[in-house]
Amino acid sequence: MAIEFSIESNSEEETCAIARKIARFFHPGDAIILDGDLGAGKTYFVKGFTAGLQSKDLVSSPTFSIANFYRTDTADILHIDLYRISFVEEFKDLGLLDYFEQSVVLIEWGKKFAEYFDAYFLISFEINDDTSRTITFSHQDGRADGTSAYPEMSDGTSSYPEMSDGTSSYPEMSDGTSEYPKTSRTMAELKKILKGDALC
Ligand SMILES: Nc1ncnc2c1ncn2[C@@H]1O[C@H](COP(=O)(O)OP(=O)(O)OP(=O)(O)O)[C@@H](O)[C@H]1O
Ligand SMILES: [Mg+2]
Repeated sequence: MAIEFSIESNSEEETCAIARKIARFFHPGDAIILDGDLGAGKTYFVKGFTAGLQSKDLVSSPTFSIANFYRTDTADILHIDLYRISFVEEFKDLGLLDYFEQSVVLIEWGKKFAEYFDAYFLISFEINDDTSRTITFSHQDGRADGTSAYPEMSDGTSSYPEMSDGTSSYPEMSDGTSEYPKTSRTMAELKKILKGDALC
Protein backbone atom coordinates (compact mmCIF):
# COMPACT_ATOMS: atom_id res chain seq x y z
CA MET A 1 0.00 0.00 0.00
CA ALA A 2 1.38 3.39 -0.93
CA ILE A 3 1.49 6.11 1.68
CA GLU A 4 -1.21 8.63 0.90
CA PHE A 5 -3.09 11.48 2.49
CA SER A 6 -6.05 13.61 1.51
CA ILE A 7 -7.16 17.19 1.86
CA GLU A 8 -10.51 18.78 1.06
CA SER A 9 -10.86 21.81 -1.17
CA ASN A 10 -14.06 23.81 -1.10
CA SER A 11 -13.47 26.14 -4.02
CA GLU A 12 -11.36 26.51 -7.13
CA GLU A 13 -9.33 29.18 -5.29
CA GLU A 14 -8.58 26.70 -2.52
CA THR A 15 -7.41 24.13 -5.06
CA CYS A 16 -5.11 26.77 -6.56
CA ALA A 17 -3.81 27.70 -3.12
CA ILE A 18 -3.06 24.07 -2.24
CA ALA A 19 -1.09 23.63 -5.46
CA ARG A 20 0.72 26.90 -4.95
CA LYS A 21 1.81 25.89 -1.51
CA ILE A 22 3.37 22.58 -2.49
CA ALA A 23 4.84 23.46 -5.90
CA ARG A 24 8.38 23.89 -4.57
CA PHE A 25 8.39 20.37 -3.16
CA PHE A 26 8.69 19.08 -6.72
CA HIS A 27 11.84 19.03 -8.86
CA PRO A 28 12.68 18.79 -12.55
CA GLY A 29 12.39 15.14 -13.50
CA ASP A 30 9.29 14.60 -11.35
CA ALA A 31 6.23 13.24 -13.12
CA ILE A 32 2.95 14.14 -11.43
CA ILE A 33 -0.16 12.39 -12.68
CA LEU A 34 -3.37 14.33 -12.06
CA ASP A 35 -6.30 11.93 -11.96
CA GLY A 36 -10.00 12.69 -11.79
CA ASP A 37 -13.15 13.11 -13.86
CA LEU A 38 -13.92 15.95 -16.24
CA GLY A 39 -14.17 19.19 -14.29
CA ALA A 40 -12.56 17.71 -11.17
CA GLY A 41 -10.07 20.57 -10.84
CA LYS A 42 -6.89 19.27 -12.46
CA THR A 43 -6.28 22.35 -14.59
CA TYR A 44 -7.05 24.67 -11.67
CA PHE A 45 -4.40 22.78 -9.73
CA VAL A 46 -1.88 23.44 -12.53
CA LYS A 47 -2.76 27.16 -12.42
CA GLY A 48 -1.88 27.32 -8.75
CA PHE A 49 1.19 25.16 -9.19
CA THR A 50 2.55 27.41 -11.92
CA ALA A 51 1.91 30.50 -9.82
CA GLY A 52 3.74 28.79 -6.95
CA LEU A 53 6.86 28.54 -9.13
CA GLN A 54 6.51 32.24 -10.03
CA SER A 55 5.78 31.64 -13.69
CA LYS A 56 4.23 34.55 -15.52
CA ASP A 57 2.99 32.32 -18.31
CA LEU A 58 -0.73 31.85 -18.72
CA VAL A 59 -2.03 28.36 -17.99
CA SER A 60 -4.59 26.98 -20.41
CA SER A 61 -6.05 23.52 -20.77
CA PRO A 62 -3.96 21.48 -23.24
CA THR A 63 -6.89 19.22 -24.15
CA PHE A 64 -6.35 20.07 -27.83
CA SER A 65 -2.72 21.20 -27.90
CA ILE A 66 -1.81 18.09 -25.78
CA ALA A 67 1.12 19.90 -24.15
CA ASN A 68 2.01 23.38 -22.91
CA PHE A 69 5.29 24.62 -21.46
CA TYR A 70 5.37 27.34 -18.80
CA ARG A 71 8.69 28.98 -17.97
CA THR A 72 9.88 29.59 -14.44
CA ASP A 73 13.18 30.90 -13.08
CA THR A 74 14.28 27.40 -12.16
CA ALA A 75 12.75 24.89 -14.58
CA ASP A 76 10.12 24.51 -17.21
CA ILE A 77 6.74 23.15 -16.25
CA LEU A 78 5.45 20.69 -18.83
CA HIS A 79 1.64 20.48 -18.68
CA ILE A 80 0.25 17.53 -20.62
CA ASP A 81 -3.36 16.44 -21.19
CA LEU A 82 -3.72 12.89 -22.51
CA TYR A 83 -7.53 12.90 -22.68
CA ARG A 84 -7.46 12.55 -26.45
CA ILE A 85 -4.57 10.07 -26.57
CA SER A 86 -5.70 6.45 -26.59
CA PHE A 87 -2.55 4.43 -27.16
CA VAL A 88 0.82 4.55 -25.48
CA GLU A 89 2.54 4.54 -28.89
CA GLU A 90 0.76 7.80 -29.75
CA PHE A 91 2.03 9.27 -26.52
CA LYS A 92 5.62 8.13 -27.18
CA ASP A 93 5.49 9.54 -30.71
CA LEU A 94 4.79 13.00 -29.34
CA GLY A 95 8.45 13.13 -28.25
CA LEU A 96 7.51 14.71 -24.93
CA LEU A 97 9.56 12.23 -22.91
CA ASP A 98 12.70 14.04 -24.13
CA TYR A 99 11.67 16.96 -21.93
CA PHE A 100 10.82 15.00 -18.78
CA GLU A 101 14.26 15.14 -17.19
CA GLN A 102 14.51 18.93 -17.38
CA SER A 103 10.89 19.75 -16.50
CA VAL A 104 8.43 19.38 -13.69
CA VAL A 105 5.78 17.38 -15.53
CA LEU A 106 2.06 17.54 -14.72
CA ILE A 107 -0.06 15.06 -16.66
CA GLU A 108 -3.85 15.23 -16.78
CA TRP A 109 -5.45 11.90 -17.77
CA GLY A 110 -2.03 10.25 -17.42
CA LYS A 111 -3.13 7.36 -15.28
CA LYS A 112 -4.05 5.22 -18.26
CA PHE A 113 -0.33 5.05 -19.13
CA ALA A 114 0.87 4.92 -15.54
CA GLU A 115 2.66 1.61 -15.94
CA TYR A 116 4.83 3.35 -18.47
CA PHE A 117 6.38 5.60 -15.81
CA ASP A 118 9.03 4.24 -13.46
CA ALA A 119 7.80 6.28 -10.55
CA TYR A 120 5.39 9.13 -10.25
CA PHE A 121 3.43 11.25 -7.84
CA LEU A 122 -0.30 10.67 -8.08
CA ILE A 123 -2.72 13.46 -7.20
CA SER A 124 -6.33 12.31 -7.43
CA PHE A 125 -9.34 14.62 -7.45
CA GLU A 126 -12.67 13.29 -6.31
CA ILE A 127 -15.78 15.39 -6.94
CA ASN A 128 -17.95 15.51 -3.81
CA ASP A 129 -20.42 18.17 -4.95
CA ASP A 130 -20.46 21.43 -6.95
CA THR A 131 -17.67 23.04 -4.95
CA SER A 132 -16.07 20.32 -2.84
CA ARG A 133 -13.18 18.13 -3.98
CA THR A 134 -11.16 15.56 -2.07
CA ILE A 135 -7.55 15.71 -3.25
CA THR A 136 -5.41 12.67 -2.44
CA PHE A 137 -1.63 12.62 -2.70
CA SER A 138 0.59 9.57 -3.01
CA HIS A 139 3.81 8.41 -4.55
CA GLN A 140 3.60 5.41 -6.80
CA ASP A 141 6.25 3.13 -8.13
CA GLY A 142 5.26 1.98 -11.58
CA ARG A 143 7.45 -1.10 -11.55
CA ALA A 144 5.65 -4.19 -12.74
CA ASP A 145 6.51 -6.24 -9.65
CA GLY A 146 4.43 -3.83 -7.58
CA THR A 147 7.24 -3.12 -5.13
CA SER A 148 7.71 0.37 -3.81
CA ALA A 149 10.87 2.44 -3.99
CA TYR A 150 9.96 3.65 -0.53
CA PRO A 151 10.49 1.40 2.44
CA GLU A 152 7.23 1.25 4.36
CA MET A 153 6.28 -0.06 7.74
CA SER A 154 3.44 -2.56 7.96
CA ASP A 155 1.20 0.19 9.35
CA GLY A 156 1.65 2.15 6.13
CA THR A 157 3.88 4.84 7.61
CA SER A 158 7.28 5.54 6.15
CA SER A 159 10.32 4.05 7.78
CA TYR A 160 12.42 7.01 6.70
CA PRO A 161 14.03 8.76 9.62
CA GLU A 162 12.46 12.01 10.72
CA MET A 163 13.72 14.47 13.29
CA SER A 164 11.46 15.29 16.20
CA ASP A 165 10.66 18.62 14.58
CA GLY A 166 9.26 16.73 11.64
CA THR A 167 12.05 17.61 9.22
CA SER A 168 13.96 14.91 7.44
CA SER A 169 17.32 13.89 8.82
CA TYR A 170 18.74 13.38 5.36
CA PRO A 171 22.11 14.97 4.80
CA GLU A 172 22.18 17.85 2.39
CA MET A 173 24.91 18.88 -0.01
CA SER A 174 26.43 22.32 0.38
CA ASP A 175 24.37 23.53 -2.56
CA GLY A 176 21.24 22.66 -0.63
CA THR A 177 20.29 19.64 -2.69
CA SER A 178 19.98 16.25 -1.11
CA GLU A 179 22.55 13.65 -1.97
CA TYR A 180 19.77 11.09 -1.92
CA PRO A 181 17.80 10.31 -5.02
CA LYS A 182 14.78 12.50 -5.64
CA THR A 183 12.40 9.73 -4.66
CA SER A 184 13.66 9.89 -1.08
CA ARG A 185 11.28 12.78 -0.47
CA THR A 186 8.43 11.45 1.57
CA MET A 187 4.72 12.00 1.65
CA ALA A 188 5.19 12.98 5.29
CA GLU A 189 7.27 15.95 4.16
CA LEU A 190 4.68 16.94 1.60
CA LYS A 191 1.93 16.68 4.20
CA LYS A 192 3.89 18.91 6.54
CA ILE A 193 4.23 21.59 3.87
CA LEU A 194 0.52 21.37 3.15
CA LYS A 195 -0.58 21.54 6.76
CA GLY A 196 1.94 24.26 7.57
CA ASP A 197 1.07 27.86 8.17
CA ALA A 198 3.03 29.27 5.25
CA LEU A 199 0.79 31.50 3.19
CA CYS A 200 0.67 30.73 -0.49
N1 LIG B 1 -12.92 22.87 -5.13
C1 LIG B 1 -12.76 23.04 -6.46
N2 LIG B 1 -11.55 22.92 -7.02
C2 LIG B 1 -11.39 23.08 -8.37
N3 LIG B 1 -12.37 23.36 -9.23
C3 LIG B 1 -13.62 23.50 -8.71
C4 LIG B 1 -13.85 23.35 -7.32
N4 LIG B 1 -15.18 23.53 -7.11
C5 LIG B 1 -15.73 23.78 -8.28
N5 LIG B 1 -14.82 23.76 -9.27
C6 LIG B 1 -15.11 23.95 -10.69
O1 LIG B 1 -14.80 22.73 -11.36
C7 LIG B 1 -14.21 23.00 -12.62
C8 LIG B 1 -12.79 22.45 -12.67
O2 LIG B 1 -12.28 22.70 -13.93
P1 LIG B 1 -10.87 22.17 -14.43
O3 LIG B 1 -10.72 22.68 -15.83
O4 LIG B 1 -9.82 22.48 -13.45
O5 LIG B 1 -11.15 20.59 -14.44
P2 LIG B 1 -10.24 19.43 -15.04
O6 LIG B 1 -10.15 18.38 -13.99
O7 LIG B 1 -8.99 19.99 -15.58
O8 LIG B 1 -11.18 18.89 -16.22
P3 LIG B 1 -10.77 18.23 -17.63
O9 LIG B 1 -10.59 16.77 -17.41
O10 LIG B 1 -11.98 18.51 -18.50
O11 LIG B 1 -9.52 18.90 -18.14
C9 LIG B 1 -14.25 24.50 -12.82
O12 LIG B 1 -15.43 24.84 -13.47
C10 LIG B 1 -14.27 25.02 -11.37
O13 LIG B 1 -14.89 26.27 -11.26
MG1 LIG C 1 -8.11 20.01 -17.45
